[in-house]
Amino acid sequence: MIDKSSELPPAGPLRWRDVVETPAVLIDLDIVERNIRRCQDQCDRLGVAIRPHIKTHKLPLLARAQLAAGAIGITAQKIGEAEVMADAGIDDILITYNIVGDHKLARLRRLADRCRLTVVADSAAVVDGLARTFASAKDEIGVLVECDTGMNRCGVLTPEEALALARQVASSAGLRFAGLMTYPAPGHGNAACEWLDNAASLIRSAGIDTHTLSSGGTPDLYAMQHHPSLTEYRPGSYIYNDRSLVTAGACTVEDCALTVLTTVISSPAHGRAIVDAGTKVLTSDLFGMSGYGMVLERPDSTVISLNEEHGRIEYTSELPPAVGDLLRIVPNHACVVSNMVDSVHLIRGEHYVQAEPVAARGRIT
Ligand SMILES: Cc1ncc(COP(=O)(O)O)c(C=O)c1O
Repeated sequence: MIDKSSELPPAGPLRWRDVVETPAVLIDLDIVERNIRRCQDQCDRLGVAIRPHIKTHKLPLLARAQLAAGAIGITAQKIGEAEVMADAGIDDILITYNIVGDHKLARLRRLADRCRLTVVADSAAVVDGLARTFASAKDEIGVLVECDTGMNRCGVLTPEEALALARQVASSAGLRFAGLMTYPAPGHGNAACEWLDNAASLIRSAGIDTHTLSSGGTPDLYAMQHHPSLTEYRPGSYIYNDRSLVTAGACTVEDCALTVLTTVISSPAHGRAIVDAGTKVLTSDLFGMSGYGMVLERPDSTVISLNEEHGRIEYTSELPPAVGDLLRIVPNHACVVSNMVDSVHLIRGEHYVQAEPVAARGRIT
């Protein structure tokens, strides 16, 4: 059981610009706390429980803060992420990813012995694997049927398929049908709830209890209407936000908690500067936009291209950045940046807090 009173650490006496070596990932805890609070308030208004996706931050410290603010549990994408969180004492975890293969299923079974685990499935083959693994388990494992409500990723395509899979789960020893889960396409969060509602009605009319209806995604979080049947929401990126969410109108630049701190290492020609962050920190994720991030100190500039260790910035004003200047870049997509560094640097405004190991970094299996 985690300590529900977990608080994030306070500011220290030093300024981050005096201690952090670049390139580095900075996380502003003042903004994180605001984002957690705003999301919790919105979910309270909607009458849904929050089960935040920790793939964004991969930090037990922040998972604990989300739980302390009212989350009912966490979501992880991979068994490895869930193992790290269970090691940190987090005891209610949903893995929103089909678990396929005997080795992974054996890990899942071991993990289920040390936390309350729920998984998803979108095919008879995935349910078969889970049933084989949990038939002899002491406790049943909860299974949500994943539904494709327009994302064109995983998920059953119709409520009738959801019913067929619910029947298979409900009749398998070791498995408990827990409900339905979807990850809607951005802009379709409300329509996705109607899809889930129809499927749940069909399943209930077949006499199968359907407890959980789980949706998620930050882009639609603040545009969601009240859906009486929705029980939980899984936002991930809201804790940091990023350039894609600013562009989508889901937050402002002031809501972006994660920035990449870089140093100008060359100012070779007017209009062009080179910083020490390339794809190894910012990643090459464009997320449908042009440019690789937003430079906070230089709104006149574009991160026009990246090599592995070089970032090329083009600017329009007369004032060139000087070699040695520190620039902070809001990346296009914060979740992938978290996976690039061993530690992030926690800050509060101008103050340094501490370095924090990204415990679930690289846990891709
Ligand atoms: C299954 C699932 N749920 C929830 C989320 C969180 O979405 P977001 O980061 O948009 O809040 C993701 C993100 O990829 C996801 O894949």
